[in-house]
Amino acid sequence: MPKQPNEISRRQVLIAGAVLTAAPGFALSQTKENTKRMEPKLVRVPDANDIAKAIAGTEKVGIHAKTHEEHLKLWQGYANKTNEIRKALAEMDTDPAKANQIYSQMRALKANYAFAYGGYLNHNVYFETLGGAGGPATGEVATLINEAYGSFEKWAADWKATGIAGRGWAFLAYDHEEGRVHNYIGDAQDTFPAWNNTLILAMDVYEHAYYLDFTTARAKYIDAYMQVIDWNAVNARLKKARG
Ligand SMILES: [Fe+2]
Repeated sequence: MPKQPNEISRRQVLIAGAVLTAAPGFALSQTKENTKRMEPKLVRVPDANDIAKAIAGTEKVGIHAKTHEEHLKLWQGYANKTNEIRKALAEMDTDPAKANQIYSQMRALKANYAFAYGGYLNHNVYFETLGGAGGPATGEVATLINEAYGSFEKWAADWKATGIAGRGWAFLAYDHEEGRVHNYIGDAQDTFPAWNNTLILAMDVYEHAYYLDFTTARAKYIDAYMQVIDWNAVNARLKKARG
């Protein structure tokens, strides 16, 4: 009798049975694997050397050493919490039955990881690109800014407005999808970035970045900040991003 297209052969039934038999064992071994502890990779905690360029380069525009020294403590806090969460993730029980979208250890660690590590990375870029000659952008980033915004002046207006409209950050990122730069707004480090973008300039507009020097006058802080952007450092980040 000819075989029908949807008829299951005896061989197929045996294979399916073998898979079903193997499944519980696989799940068990995976659970054992999940409980193994991994050694987490930790980030370097920044120190006084990491704010030296900012201190030397921003005094002249009214952003003083005390601001950066206090800021360093917050940056260190992000680094320490990043490491703490990495250790906790490495040690936690990843049994999916214990995960929960309302509250669970997995949710708490993963959600706060974006805040901790994001804050660490943002401050890395902020301090790396601060304390320079400022003025109009130079090099490759100047070309990309002109392509995206028409001129440096138009970009600068957008950047300042983005910094005033944001609750915590303004981000200049290189978009690998389109090969262009874009000013992103950030209420915090874990809000509003887009995938496949590399951060090349980050302006901290939380009050801790300027209150000691400008009280609540954020626009004055941004004007001062823009006089001390290190465009060489921005170009170095861009070059690394483009590979
Ligand atoms: Fe900050």
